[in-house]
Amino acid sequence: MRTIPPHAFPASPRGHLALGGVDALDLIREFGTPLHVLDEDRLRGNCREYREALARVYGNGRVLFASKACCIAATCQIVHQEGLGVDIASGGELYTALHAGIPAADLVFHGSNKTRDEVEYGLRAGVGRFVVDNTYELDLLEELTARTAARAEILLRLTPGIEPHTHKAIQTGGVDSKFGFGILEGAAYQAVARARAMERVRLRGLHAHIGSQVFDLEPFRLEATALVDFAARIRDELDVTTEELNLGGGLGIRYLSTDEPPAKAAYVNAVIDVVRARVDQHRLTPPKVFIEPGRSIVGDAGVTLYTIGAIKTIPGVRTYVSVDGGMYENPRPALYGARYEAVLAERPFAEPTQTVAVAGRCCESGDVLIWEAYLPDVHSGDVLAMFSTGAYTYSMAGNYNRFPRPAVVLAGGGRARVVVEREGYDDLVRKDVVL
Ligand SMILES: Cc1ncc(COP(=O)(O)O)c(C=O)c1O
Repeated sequence: MRTIPPHAFPASPRGHLALGGVDALDLIREFGTPLHVLDEDRLRGNCREYREALARVYGNGRVLFASKACCIAATCQIVHQEGLGVDIASGGELYTALHAGIPAADLVFHGSNKTRDEVEYGLRAGVGRFVVDNTYELDLLEELTARTAARAEILLRLTPGIEPHTHKAIQTGGVDSKFGFGILEGAAYQAVARARAMERVRLRGLHAHIGSQVFDLEPFRLEATALVDFAARIRDELDVTTEELNLGGGLGIRYLSTDEPPAKAAYVNAVIDVVRARVDQHRLTPPKVFIEPGRSIVGDAGVTLYTIGAIKTIPGVRTYVSVDGGMYENPRPALYGARYEAVLAERPFAEPTQTVAVAGRCCESGDVLIWEAYLPDVHSGDVLAMFSTGAYTYSMAGNYNRFPRPAVVLAGGGRARVVVEREGYDDLVRKDVVL
């Protein structure tokens, strides 16, 4: 079957883009634009690929979904049905996951500045693990577990001093980072020494996350090496057993035809090879290994459908093709120069004839979703499909210019259903107080 590059979605019998077996034009007829569509088979397939890849090479492991990539009830439910746990990073994500029916024990609570209320909420809910980021959080846990007689099982988030080659704004594992306890400057060691002595807090292991949209496997190998070596050191010097090792997420996905991200299995094999080898070398008890991808689970399952409106050509300069969405529903291009590809949903195989800028509707010159889109002749009213929009789009969306957020639709097996309703103007003023 001929599929639409670069993301291998099939065409419908009418030759249009099809998502989850539903013709994209039928989707917009029923649900309108802009529309975030999640292809259910691809979402489930990504979960299975990770789960099976890990199970093949390491019996004692678990995949978690980093829900920040797209934290809505439906994604939490689907990934959990596929056997994944869920990483949450705020009270709101915790609430969403619980609302979706995910058992608290399957939740891993991240966050670099959890508030007292959030820590209390996590304790009350009984989240499986807190990933403790700093001494402020250790203080809070100490105080709150003592007061409520609760217990907390924790991992410590470490910064191993590794800079993956990616955009600076999404580098998180280096020395100069707001996240975690630095291994190199000794903060991690001190945190372990403190945590192991805490009465109602059980230190289960170590965590790190070095960055996002990473294609090079070497930084992940270095990260795994740093964590296992640190586990050996704290065993030798502090008599602390690392039962669990959480290696974070970060594997990149294909946004552009030219992107060649490693396969999920290649990533899993790479990190497990290192863990195994270093664990053997140090004669450590093999820990349970967690990975927590977000983007590579939900990213390429998402496609955004837009209706083209105004088209402005500035001779010799550029053509702006405006769509009915923008940075309010996908801030990634404006925020850190993220790049995408698009086709016309009705003619996905039409040869591109021009390079245009796909502009959003917000009152910012920088609200351009694609600066260089290769498209055939386009007309107002055409439907543009932008690929790989499943991660960090809807979850980062807002209401700038008071644009209501789009609906999210799950398409699979030839049918589609709304999983987040489109906002209306009434939603926009719901919390406003009129004087
Ligand atoms: C702690 C942690 N884990 C996992 C992830 C998921 O990363 P990605 O979506 O790149 O896989 C993130 C994202 O920033 C993160 O901060």
